[in-house]
Amino acid sequence: VQIVRRAVRGIQTAQQTDRDTITRLLYSLGTKKEVERHLRIFSAASHPSHPAKFAVIKVGGAVLEQLDELALSLSFLYRVGLYPVVLHGGGPQLNDIIEREGVVPDYIDGIRVTDAKTLQVARRVFLEENLKLVAALEKLGTRARPITSGVFTADYLDKDKYQLVGKITRVDKRPLEASIRAGALPILTSLAESPEGQILNVNADIAAGELAKELEPMKIVFLNEKGGLFHGVTGEKLDIINLDEEYDQLMKEPWVKYGTKLKLREFKELLEHLPRTSSVAVISASSLQKELFTDSGAGTLIRRGYKLFK
Ligand code: ARG
Repeated sequence: VQIVRRAVRGIQTAQQTDRDTITRLLYSLGTKKEVERHLRIFSAASHPSHPAKFAVIKVGGAVLEQLDELALSLSFLYRVGLYPVVLHGGGPQLNDIIEREGVVPDYIDGIRVTDAKTLQVARRVFLEENLKLVAALEKLGTRARPITSGVFTADYLDKDKYQLVGKITRVDKRPLEASIRAGALPILTSLAESPEGQILNVNADIAAGELAKELEPMKIVFLNEKGGLFHGVTGEKLDIINLDEEYDQLMKEPWVKYGTKLKLREFKELLEHLPRTSSVAVISASSLQKELFTDSGAGTLIRRGYKLFK
């Protein structure tokens, strides 16, 4: 019996204690009724015939640094029988290394210009980060599978402008479904292959979006450090954004800056491709449970209209 002591009031990997701990933790989040309702809704989303419809979780590079928090939150979902598809970035880790080697990171419109040297380091760094996350999960008794190729096929986005950057043209969900059916969380990096087998770098937010369009999950979760999206003037956390009613106005706000605009546009485009019951959440790793299993949530919820669940 391996006992893992740490945060979130301690998740233990022994059979019965584990169940009790998880149950207690679950019911400490909100009322029994709301927690059970959310658990029911999310459990119903995935089915043996389409097991990857609960959630796509995009883990930003900075969140990978909070490895224990992250592994605990994902393990929690696993323990209650929910299997998210996890996709991670690695931007900050990559910048650290290439800068040390004297390469200056170069971005155009938020996309990393990826030359051969950068790709070489990116591949090594992303695979390392992937293994680190998988190992942290396995250490908590959560089965996880590194899936580091064979899911995303891409063409060059614009070879002259961005060099070795891909635009995803196909997503093969079979490796992800196979992983979940076998009882392991699929953990993906955002590298793609061209039809000829050339590895191409893909922005992780964009890859998460393409993954979501293929899987049509209930939730698309973007884990960030700040735990949500924030009002540019008041600094307050934005609770819910109803795109149907608020998008145009929001995009006109002077405080909605370049990065936020890009995200909102991405969320809107993504949700337009998904059933109305799907929604996006922006949340920190440590508050993920509260966001998912309570009515009030903890981060920012973005949806098309008012009706969240039919
Ligand atoms: N738990 C529900 C969900 O995941 C509601 C979350 C509400 N979140 C918020 N930030 N207001 O869909």
